[in-house]
Amino acid sequence: MTAIDPKEFRNVLGHFPTGVTIVTSVVDGEPLGLTIGSFTSVSLDPPMVGFLPGTSSATWAAMQSSGSFCVNVLGTNQADECWTFAKPTEGSRFDGVAWHPSGTGSPILDASLAWIDCTIHEVYEMGDHLFVLGNVTELSAAEGEPLLFFKGSLGTFSKQ
Ligand SMILES: Cc1cc2nc3c(=O)[nH]c(=O)nc-3n(C[C@H](O)[C@H](O)[C@H](O)COP(=O)(O)O)c2cc1C
Repeated sequence: MTAIDPKEFRNVLGHFPTGVTIVTSVVDGEPLGLTIGSFTSVSLDPPMVGFLPGTSSATWAAMQSSGSFCVNVLGTNQADECWTFAKPTEGSRFDGVAWHPSGTGSPILDASLAWIDCTIHEVYEMGDHLFVLGNVTELSAAEGEPLLFFKGSLGTFSKQ
């Protein structure tokens, strides 16, 4: 078996376009969240979704203790939030971001295109990432266009 070069792995996998989400929780009264592209629908019956945070994510490590999370699907007007929630910040990533709590108490960003509120079903370790499997408790979608991520850049969807 040939060893896979990490740079080549990133480059090739970057050719797979994804939507962009911000996954959120509240821990000790503080809203926490991180940008996640590895979000996927898992099961319809029962309704389940999942995503993969890195094992080194301090934000997810804190969020896991809440037992729940809300997946915010970003719209085209949320590019700034995509980058803010992907890097360290002096204050809170939520500074200047309008949000309200979901049924599980996790932040729903007011500008999101859709949100999926979940309780944590199970967390599986997979290499240098975790697979977080959630039971969907409530969900909703709004009108609008999605933000997309492709080869390291953000873009928008256009119909053919
Ligand atoms: C578009 C986009 C998608 C991302 N998707 C993921 C992902 O699926 N899993 C992951 O671990 N990090 C992902 N990241 C990187 C995290 O958002 C970033 O590492 C963040 O700093 C993690 O938060 P923390 O360092 O506070 O733990 C993504 C970043 C961007 C810009």
